[in-house]
Amino acid sequence: MMTHFPNQSQPIALVTGATNQIGNFLLPRLQAAGFSVIAISRRAQSSSPNMVWQSLDLLTNVDPLNFLKIPAPPAKWVLFHLAPLPLLPSLLTRLVDRVELTRVIAFSSTSRFTKINSTDAKEQAIALALQTAEEAMITTCQTHQLIWTLFRPTLIYGCGKDKNVTFIAQFIRRFGFFPLLGNGHGLRQPVHADDLANACVQAYFSPPTSNQAYNLSGGETLTYRQMVAAIFQQLGKSPRIVTIPLPWFKIFLHSVAWLPSFKHLSTTMLTRMNQDLCFDHTLASQDFGYQPRNFVDNRHHMEEL
Ligand SMILES: NC(=O)c1ccc[n+]([C@@H]2O[C@H](COP(=O)([O-])OP(=O)(O)OC[C@H]3O[C@@H](n4cnc5c(N)ncnc54)[C@H](OP(=O)(O)O)[C@@H]3O)[C@@H](O)[C@H]2O)c1
Repeated sequence: MMTHFPNQSQPIALVTGATNQIGNFLLPRLQAAGFSVIAISRRAQSSSPNMVWQSLDLLTNVDPLNFLKIPAPPAKWVLFHLAPLPLLPSLLTRLVDRVELTRVIAFSSTSRFTKINSTDAKEQAIALALQTAEEAMITTCQTHQLIWTLFRPTLIYGCGKDKNVTFIAQFIRRFGFFPLLGNGHGLRQPVHADDLANACVQAYFSPPTSNQAYNLSGGETLTYRQMVAAIFQQLGKSPRIVTIPLPWFKIFLHSVAWLPSFKHLSTTMLTRMNQDLCFDHTLASQDFGYQPRNFVDNRHHMEEL
């Protein structure tokens, strides 16, 4: 447990949801940028000299800093919120009384736009919760004069923790083929988690990002089918993509629904293979030099899965 910071002149980065794919890349980037880091998630990992891991449930914990056995250091605090956005508004109100919080950089999702008219009630609820949380975050930041930046990615991959690219790669490894509904012509722009981590640091140092929201897509636009074919190639395999009609897919889903790795799939998700999920990131490039990588060369990443 941390009771002091090695260098109190350093700004302190509080990173919530630090165990996720973005956190994986953001923590070392923040340390390299001169922050002392406090990383929070329900599952803690080991601390290092300039970084403390704290296991906390943000949903139930009244004081997210009660592990600090001394008054919070009088440094400049920056919150990087990578945990689910609906947890943020109440966290902010608890933090502003405790520390000199100056800046908030948080992740929402383009699902707030794409799922709002979904035929699946659960997806609609997710979109509505994101929209409500975004609005509440902005209002709270305005009330307490905190500078905010909001990022909305769509399809994140990069360290084997995602349920899209990693799922496809694992399916191909297991079965040797990949099933598509229809042509799989929906457009995708997968974004690497490290490009999002870099965006956090770039945005912190770029004044135009104050009180702005950005849709952050990846560097390359490809159809769902092309994305699957690229994953086959990155795994060193020739693409074997099988088109399956919806009724067969439903039978398949029903029969594998008990397996943990298939639990997240729904018919609505599968039909989305043929819908475009594309967002322009020009504003982010202009404001803070956002330059996400292409999806094509991920062989190294795939070898690690
Ligand atoms: N994955 C995507 O393709 C995608 C697409 C668009 C937007 N996003 C957004 O981008 C961000 C990162 O997404 P992701 O998929 O990499 O990660 P994620 O699975 O959404 O990560 C959630 C993180 O928050 C922590 N967390 C969850 N509930 C918590 C609680 N009650 N108290 C404390 N910590 C809690 C989790 O760690 P513990 O389980 O250890 O607590 C985990 O580290 C999220 O805001 C997500 O909504 C993701």
